[in-house]
This record gives sequence, structure tokens and C-alpha cells, in this order.
Amino acid sequence: MSLRARLNTPETGRGAHEENHLVAAYRAKLLEEIDLAEMSPLAATERRVRLERVLGHIISREGPVLSTHERSQLIRRVVDEALGLGILEPLLEDASITEIMVNGPDQVFVERAGRVERLPLRFASEEQLMQTIERIVSTVNRRVDESNPMVDARLPSGERVNVIIPPLALSGPTLTIRRFPRAYTLSELISLGSLDEQMLLLLSALVRAKFNIIVSGATGAGKTTLLNALSGLIPEGERIITIEDSAELRLQQQHVITLEARPPNIEGKGQITIRDLVRNSLRMRPDRIVVGEVRGGETLDMLQAMSTGHDGSLATVHANSAEDALMRLQTLASMSEVDIPFPALKDQINSAVDVIVQLARSADGSRRISEIAILHSRGREDYKIATVCRFQPWPLGSDGVVRGEFGYYPLPPRVAERLHLKNEPVPPAFGVAATEEQLTSRQAR
Ligand SMILES: Nc1ncnc2c1ncn2[C@@H]1O[C@H](COP(=O)(O)OP(=O)(O)O)[C@@H](O)[C@H]1O
Ligand SMILES: [Mg+2]
Repeated sequence: MSLRARLNTPETGRGAHEENHLVAAYRAKLLEEIDLAEMSPLAATERRVRLERVLGHIISREGPVLSTHERSQLIRRVVDEALGLGILEPLLEDASITEIMVNGPDQVFVERAGRVERLPLRFASEEQLMQTIERIVSTVNRRVDESNPMVDARLPSGERVNVIIPPLALSGPTLTIRRFPRAYTLSELISLGSLDEQMLLLLSALVRAKFNIIVSGATGAGKTTLLNALSGLIPEGERIITIEDSAELRLQQQHVITLEARPPNIEGKGQITIRDLVRNSLRMRPDRIVVGEVRGGETLDMLQAMSTGHDGSLATVHANSAEDALMRLQTLASMSEVDIPFPALKDQINSAVDVIVQLARSADGSRRISEIAILHSRGREDYKIATVCRFQPWPLGSDGVVRGEFGYYPLPPRVAERLHLKNEPVPPAFGVAATEEQLTSRQAR
């Protein structure tokens, strides 16, 4: 059986054994000639190129006679193994892949452009998969075994890794790697059609004038991506504290403090929640607090911070509309152990939240702002939500690509005043309503 055929065949039986032997032998020879630790400061692609070159020399010098294809296959496998993550290496290098999912040794799935597909790849055995998993978790000084069968960690390169093994996972060792989302600039988001220039003018003015903004959307709608881009509008010189479950935001300003929550350790101790961090951040003299995602009782602390002088804060929440976002904030805030009567909670939200930016992911995989809404109710009133921008889709064409246009509506007079006081212009496309009746507004309770 040729090497090529063997490389393309499920790795069982004698052929696979021979081939694994060959790979292991060359891996050992390669590691004799090169010091991996010395290479660690290099970028992944550079490391790979270096290893491939050295291995190429070794094979030409003392290896079997191989066809070009066989040779490159062998080089690839050996280098993959040497770099540590086996068949996962090329997947990790593929920038179009956002998630890698391994369900036992025989099933490898990836997510690309929002679509999940199964790849014709497999690990040689459950043991080999476990070795790969151990290598991954050991880079963050964690271990995984029967007494500690679940690990959730972030790699130094930013990827989020989750491992769960038998006996908890019946289908075998299960590995989920979520790639660190790439940062988009606002102009990139504009060229993707996620927002337009007028909306950018408005959002820039709102951020600079320190309105409190909630970015709302479903999982994968692009909340973190937009939050990151919007944070870029915060003027240099302000003291920004970011608080996240797993640090994904990449702010470019100089004065940024990044805080990351910590899960409990093996004995169930040492947990630091988002809530602990929000509370602590208030004692750190922040100009702005940016919370990656509110999911629980920390919502109350965040709302309190927003309405007591920490203007210009930003946060995301998982919700499907502006109304839904308010309901969700309300529910989450009531999960705190402080028992707040409902009208007081409404008061809190009315004074804390200024703007809701709703994101939506369309059937074609595109993500865009579907609405910019201003919360303009006060005190204990029912919520009044004024739409100032909305995406209107056109009828779907035969190519299935979602197209449409953004509609603009006047801003509440009080918002315009506040912008004016901060010397921020009202973008002409929107204008200002003379009275509340002229707003495109709706109520919610
Ligand atoms: N406006 C956008 N256009 C295209 N892709 C986007 C956009 N926003 C986010 N993405 C991509 O979608 C995925 C999910 O984005 P993310 O911001 O993590 O979503 P969320 O925080 O809502 O779960 C990432 O791979 C990200 O790069
Ligand atoms: Mg997110």
C-alpha cells in the first residue's frame, strides 16, 4: 500500500501502524535537529515553514524515495505532530474556521461562515486524541483525567477551549475550540453592510457624548465584534475598564484595564464572577465600564453604575429585540440577591439605559444592525422606545443574498440637547423631533 493511500485511509490496521511509525520516526529525527522551545517566539506559520524546510532536508538525505505528493503529505503530518496538535494544526491555521469540534476520535466538525461541516479527518485512536487534548490543556497548566473530566480554558493565543471526557461524554473525548474572533473596524463593518456612514456618525456622537449603550442580539449575531468596534470610539485618555467572562475585546486605547472572570477550581473554590469584577471596578475610578455580556445578577450592579455617574458605559445582552433586551435586563437584574420592587427596577433601567443597538444575523449569514433605539421614558414610566434607525430588507432575490436599506427617524429632543451640550453634532440624516409625538416610538412594559 502506498503512503498516499495509507494517508488517506482510516487509520486502522497494519498500514496505519506502519505509517504512524514512519511519522514518529521522522518526528524524532526532526526534534533532534531543531529546538522547538527556541522557536516559540515565532509566529505559527513561520514555525511551520522552518520545520518543513529542515524536515525536507532530512528526508532528502536519508529518507525513502517518495513521490512529490507522498513527500509533502509525510512532511505535513510530521510537522503537525511536532507542532503538537496533530490534525488540528492546519484547522487552527485556517482563518476561515471559527469553531473546531471534535466528538471522539472519528468525528471532526468545523464552523465556517456560520455553517457547520464535517471534515474527512480522524484521530488514529482515542489515545491519540487524549494526547492531543492533554497537550492543549497542559499549555495552560490544567489537567484532564477521570477525577477532573471537564476543562474550560483560554489558550495564550486567545482560543477558547472546552474539554469533556468519558465517563461524562459517552461518545468519547470531546473537544471544542472557539477561535478568537477577529476584530473588525467600523469601516470594515460598513463595507460588510452591517451599518452605514450615517449610523456611524450617530453612534460616534453617542459614544463620545457618553450615552450608555446596550448592544443586543442572539448568540453569534456579532455583539462582541460591534462592542469592540464601538469601544474604539471612546476618546483616548479616558480610563476604561473591560470586564468579560473570557477576554475577547481588544481595545486600542492606552489606558485600558482588562479584567477576566475566573471559574471555580477543581475543589469548587476561588471563583470570581463578572459581578465581583463589576463591583470591584467601581472602586478603580473608571471613566467607562465595558461589560462583555451580562448574564446574571451583575446586571443590577452594572445598571446602578450606569445611572450613578459612570456614563458612557457599554455592555451586551442576549436578546432578540430592543423590547426583549429591556425585559431581559429586568429579569437578570432581579436575579441579584437584592430584592428590588418592580417599579424601582424600571426606574433603574430608565435612568441607566440610553441606547439599544440591536443586531441580527440573516439567513445568508450576514450580520447587521437591525435597529438603533433610544429609551426615552423616565422614572417609573413604562418603557418608551424611539426607533431612530431600522434596516428594511428588500424582497429576497434568487441569489439568496439579503439586501435592503437603513431608514432614519428623528431623535428625541432631549437626546439632541444632550449631544449639543457635549458639542456633538446631530447627523443630518436623522434630524430632531420637535415634540415627542413626532417620534417613531412604541411602548413596552
Ligand atoms: N458584522 C459582521 N459581519 C460579518 N461577520 C461578523 C460580523 N460581526 C461578527 N462577525 C463574525 O461572527 C462571529 C460571531 O461574532 P461575535 O461578535 O462573537 O458574536 P456574539 O458576541 O454576538 O456571539 C465571529 O466569527 C465574527 O467574526
Ligand atoms: Mg459575544
